[in-house]
Amino acid sequence: MFDRIAVWYDFLNHFLSLGIDRRWRKKLIRHLNIQSGDHVLDMATGTGDLAITLAKSTGCRVTGLDVSEKMMDIAEKKTRKKGLQGKINFHTGAAEQIPFETETFDAAVVAFGVRNFTSLEQGLKEMYRVLKSGGQLAVLEFAQPVRQPMKGLYSFYLFHVLPLAGRIFSGDKQAYSYLPASIQVFPQREAFLNILQGCSFEETHYQPYTGGIVAAYYGKKPAK
Ligand SMILES: C[S@@+](CC[C@H](N)C(=O)[O-])C[C@H]1O[C@@H](n2cnc3c(N)ncnc32)[C@H](O)[C@@H]1O
Repeated sequence: MFDRIAVWYDFLNHFLSLGIDRRWRKKLIRHLNIQSGDHVLDMATGTGDLAITLAKSTGCRVTGLDVSEKMMDIAEKKTRKKGLQGKINFHTGAAEQIPFETETFDAAVVAFGVRNFTSLEQGLKEMYRVLKSGGQLAVLEFAQPVRQPMKGLYSFYLFHVLPLAGRIFSGDKQAYSYLPASIQVFPQREAFLNILQGCSFEETHYQPYTGGIVAAYYGKKPAK
């Protein structure tokens, strides 16, 4: 699906979120303690926005991993355009079977990716495995607001405006109907923290943004 919508992905992301998606990614990074010598895994990197923001703002080395080669073709072009090819590299692979050695990364981040994993727990356990001890995890994901009027407004936007706009621009009927459906069934807030804890992460906490339509989740692999 992401191969099909790759060329429209960035435009629709920024257009449908009114550009706020860039701010969410920056906030996610600011909350972490990333040093310039660190090596960070950007899981489900897609067109590389989080990888690029990470490398630019912290000077760290980033490895992006994704199942969609077409999404990463765009990520590679953007990386070269920004002169960051020495800092960021991209690999094809799935979250459920990360093709890297145990204890490779100082941090692992995922923006709008975990919702798409075939197995959420297997993907989180794999990220835990490839983190060094004391390594940080950050996950950015859509959520549903709990308070009115945001809850009602967002619901209308999600189920009526977004699928229509997505279909008109990308021509893909399935992709932008899948988005609201997948947000609705995905574990949120405390439920997601419980899953992180079940995968052995500690110091778990979350931060809602923009009235609760997005949440940033954090955890750590215990230090030895
Ligand atoms: C909504 S995009 C997010 C891209 C990017 N992180 C961002 O912030 O814009 C989701 C990405 O997850 C990737 N993806 C889906 N399932 C995956 C899996 N099991 N393992 C790795 N990547 C996956 C898709 O190919 C797609 O590029």
